[in-house]
Amino acid sequence: MADFSRLLSLASTYAARVDWFVYSKFENGAPEELYRAAFHLYRAGGKRFRPFVVMATARMLGGPQSESDALPFAAAVELFHTYTLIHDDIMDDDDYRRGVPTTHRIWGVPYAILAGDLDYALSFKSIISAGSGSEAFDRTCILDAVETMVEASIRVAEGQGYDMLFERRIDVDYHDYLSMIYRKTGALIEASAKLGAIAACQTNLKETMGEYGRLVGIAFQIRDDILGVFGDPSKTGKPIYNDLRRGKKTLLVLYAYKHAAGEDKKIIESVLRGEARDEETLRRAAEIIRETGALEYAENLARRMADTAIKILDDIGEDVIEDEDAKEALVELARFTVEREK
Ligand code: IPE
Ligand code: IPE
Ligand code: MG
Ligand code: MG
Repeated sequence: MADFSRLLSLASTYAARVDWFVYSKFENGAPEELYRAAFHLYRAGGKRFRPFVVMATARMLGGPQSESDALPFAAAVELFHTYTLIHDDIMDDDDYRRGVPTTHRIWGVPYAILAGDLDYALSFKSIISAGSGSEAFDRTCILDAVETMVEASIRVAEGQGYDMLFERRIDVDYHDYLSMIYRKTGALIEASAKLGAIAACQTNLKETMGEYGRLVGIAFQIRDDILGVFGDPSKTGKPIYNDLRRGKKTLLVLYAYKHAAGEDKKIIESVLRGEARDEETLRRAAEIIRETGALEYAENLARRMADTAIKILDDIGEDVIEDEDAKEALVELARFTVEREK
């Protein structure tokens, strides 16, 4: 893997600032049990990928002041992300994430739903908090930011809706898959990039940056699907084969089904139907995914999307790039997205 040490060091700086903001403003409330549940996954870690996109975009387009101004937006996207993770783990019936038991495994489904709802509401509170205080954004900017988050919320719900419906269908094609992952994952990363542009008061670049985020986001989910089969749980903090077990329609299985033959095709068909359950069949399915070239195909597609995202950054006029290092960080982030092991 390429050397991402500079990127990761910047990421931990951003993460520390965002965490400080979140913990000091939102973590405490009553009932304590509810707040504990709402912050259980947040406290367990995570890459803080989406806040990175917000902060680096704001810095690229507006310099260090915009980067600081973006903090409430960065906190908002991570709180929103936490909400989606809590609910996603219920939907996917997953036991582990970030190396710890999922929220509903500890508190039960009803309480976990509520904890997710709280994180969702806090994410909007964070956006709105940017409209008060001495360095407040004007109302138009806040409205723009809220609209951006609302759009993302709707897309994520739609994406998760498709994701679950597809479990019960076997006639899903590549287009359906890409549209589903854009919604469930791409839309929030798209919104993160747009929020960075809004924080820098560069609304004319909102759509351009949104396109960068959209492409990175789709590539991010393709990589997530790959790690769900070929990843190392000690690095990802998540179990493997769960997508296969549940009949999730990932590009890997769709491609493998198209290109496998004979007995192998039957095995992949049982995966598509969500009927492959035992470890040995799942392991064999993973081998077939490799042998048919599905893994390579998915890796290449993700790489091409990251390259297109980088091209978008390169096409932004030099006169509007306020901070060249921040742009380089976003270039690196696109590369990291498709090579990451966690
Ligand atoms: C996991 O997101 C859910 C997806 C959208 C794929 P991340 O891979 O960003 O998870 P954390 O935040 O680092 O745990
Ligand atoms: C990612 O869903 C999208 C959201 C969490 C909204 P997945 O179900 O593919 O992600 P992981 O693998 O559980 O993190
Ligand atoms: Mg999941
Ligand atoms: Mg899911």
